[in-house]
Amino acid sequence: MVTRSIKPLVAGNWKMNGLKAELAVATEIARGYDRELKHTVDLAICPPATLLFPMTAALTGSRIATGGQDCSEQESGAFTGEVSAAMLADAGAGYAIVGHSERRTLHGETNAIVRAKAEAAQRCLLVPIVCVGETQAERAADKALAVVRKQLRGSVPDASTPATLVIAYEPVWAIGTGLTPTAADVAEMHEAIRGELGKLLGKAAAAGVRLLYGGSVKPSNAAELMNVPHVDGALVGGASLKAEDFLGIARACR
Ligand code: PGA
Repeated sequence: MVTRSIKPLVAGNWKMNGLKAELAVATEIARGYDRELKHTVDLAICPPATLLFPMTAALTGSRIATGGQDCSEQESGAFTGEVSAAMLADAGAGYAIVGHSERRTLHGETNAIVRAKAEAAQRCLLVPIVCVGETQAERAADKALAVVRKQLRGSVPDASTPATLVIAYEPVWAIGTGLTPTAADVAEMHEAIRGELGKLLGKAAAAGVRLLYGGSVKPSNAAELMNVPHVDGALVGGASLKAEDFLGIARACR
């Protein structure tokens, strides 16, 4: 068992899933988020932008936060289709995922864009969950640590603190595939991330930043992954769409 100095965060990334009817999943999660769980783990759900406002309302009093899945790096204006950080905050969000690999790959988001998005989130008092992670080819070529360190150097806003930054390590090849790295590989990566953040933010700040693991987290593998040193929670895709699975992952942080 790891003795935790950082309260873990389990965040659900619903991706492009969820209509109004699925608000019931959020309220079911809230029902299962009992006193003991509230004491041991923070929860957040990042639904599609269309559900952010009603979900935040449905979760009032539950102590479960909500978040956006992305935000624009721009403040406002002629950016058709974009959602600003201020809009997310106005809808009740506390977090904004930025730099998810699906955004980096499908939408060509560079480290510089991801950093600008994280900064936009911080300006609106949202906590950015900055995602990093290597591809299968990069891991096979033994470049995983170097790739992730470079992403951190390029994407993490200067002067971030434990209160204003969350990092999610999500190996691209583990997302939605059922594959996960070994506990030893996760341990090595999370230690490297903590070390790189120390160089960027100073050791004291880096020591308190929550480092989530993401990629095929399920109730069945969560206990092992959540007990890896420097793993302070999870970013959960598929399993966050089922209340019992999401709660099972939360319970694994005890
Ligand atoms: P997954 O997705 O849990 O479905 O693998 C994780 C993510 O993309 O955040």
